[in-house]
Amino acid sequence: MFYKSIRFKVTIVYMAILAITLYAFSTILYHQVSKSLYDNMDTLLSSRAEGIVSAIGTYWATEKLGTMRYGADALASDNVDFATIAQRWVGATSKDPKLLNIIVQIFDAKGEIVASSKNTQGITSVSEQTLFAALQGKSTFDTLTSSFPTKKAQAFRVFITPAIQNDSVEYIVQVASPLDPIANALNSLKVTLFVLFPITVLITGVTGAFLVKLTLRPVDSMIRTIHGITAENMKMKLRIPNTKDEIQKLAETFNDMLARLEHAFTSQKHLFEDLSHELKTPLTILKGEFEVVLKKMRSPGDYEDVLKSSLEEIDKMTRLVENLLMLASLEARQAMPEKRTLDLNGLLKSVADNVKRLAEIKNIALAFSGKSGISVIGDEKELKQLFLNILDNAVKYTPEGGRIDISVVEDMRSTRISVKDTGVGIPSADIPHIFDRFYRVHSARSSYGFGLGLSIVKVIADAHNGSIKVESSPGSGTTFIITLPLK
Ligand SMILES: Nc1ncnc2c1ncn2[C@@H]1O[C@H](COP(=O)(O)OP(=O)(O)OP(=O)(O)O)[C@@H](O)[C@H]1O
Ligand SMILES: [Mg+2]
Repeated sequence: MFYKSIRFKVTIVYMAILAITLYAFSTILYHQVSKSLYDNMDTLLSSRAEGIVSAIGTYWATEKLGTMRYGADALASDNVDFATIAQRWVGATSKDPKLLNIIVQIFDAKGEIVASSKNTQGITSVSEQTLFAALQGKSTFDTLTSSFPTKKAQAFRVFITPAIQNDSVEYIVQVASPLDPIANALNSLKVTLFVLFPITVLITGVTGAFLVKLTLRPVDSMIRTIHGITAENMKMKLRIPNTKDEIQKLAETFNDMLARLEHAFTSQKHLFEDLSHELKTPLTILKGEFEVVLKKMRSPGDYEDVLKSSLEEIDKMTRLVENLLMLASLEARQAMPEKRTLDLNGLLKSVADNVKRLAEIKNIALAFSGKSGISVIGDEKELKQLFLNILDNAVKYTPEGGRIDISVVEDMRSTRISVKDTGVGIPSADIPHIFDRFYRVHSARSSYGFGLGLSIVKVIADAHNGSIKVESSPGSGTTFIITLPLK
């Protein structure tokens, strides 16, 4: 699996990019160096040739002057003199350091060789074409291979140029230099590059792999920790590396996710426990009643009583299951609730009608205040459920002879509905929990109730982007304030 690891992939990509770059760099470098070495050689040869032409010119002029002084007819014996002069000049300059490594040959205007430096290295003949071109007055560069019988063939760079006076070619100078030094230099450059190339790629690869390993070390330790995390030990957390980079962020995000998952798991566990408990009580009651009634023959009236009370227990269980189902479906829904403009007063009145009978039984006064014509936006069924649960609580937790006030206030941005009762109130320590599932403050007092009503209220209010506030003082009453946004 190593070849699939990030470390391997990054290192390989890294090395490949470096190899390509180095290869391109080396090739360009080699060609640049080679071109400039050859260009330099050409410049050197042409400047040496120019120097020779002017030196021979001076030498010849001096000689002519000397001959004239001795009375000979210099002009008539130009050619003979030139050959001797050229030979003498070549002999005299054979030790010139400027001409070291440069082979000089001089041809007369007919193309006959008249003088050449000592070591011609087999560069005796130039091609007829170049010689002809020189006779025509053209200078040319050429590359020749020596034909020296005892030595191995050697390449030479040759420059041939005519010396022109009064529009006619007087003689031709040919200079040549072996290309060996250049070839040697280029060869050693090639070897250096060739050796350095793999070494550089290898060193960078190894360093790269090490760096990647160093960078990914926290990830390795994270993987080990994550392996140890199960549903049971979600308290286990990743150690956050203090690197301030993506890896630290990853660890933090993972820990956040763990915390959320842990919360979800715990609440799921509690839900199961609570649910089992809630169902167990009525089932135990049912079982007990049946067992007692079955002990002996009873009168039809006794059976009817047992069946009636059983039916109550079954109703309770049905309500529990219905409430749970409602909560589950509200929480699981993906889409927003249907949003319609609703007449708030009408909605509250119809909800109040539902609890009126119970309030009357307990002699609780139900009052409504607020201007009419206020509307809210939302799902009618859900908002009715919300207010029903709150009013149901108000009636349930208010003793006989109490009072419930419903009032509506509207401002620029929201509508506030408050339900105020004169009931038993909620201790402030319990207030943060009353919206949790199965949480009951007054369970002993209430004849029924599972602690699901306010959980449903909270889910609906959240879905409508609303909020709920509770103000309560035990013994004197509770106020629930629901705020719904206008839009
Ligand atoms: N108006 C109120 N006055 C006093 N206590 C209240 C009031 N409303 C809610 N409570 C307390 O908050 C708890 C949670 O309320 P919730 O409506 O969720 O559950 P419930 O009324 O007990 O049961 P359910 O609504 O599921 O039948 C209640 O058990 C009660 O103790
Ligand atoms: Mg309730």
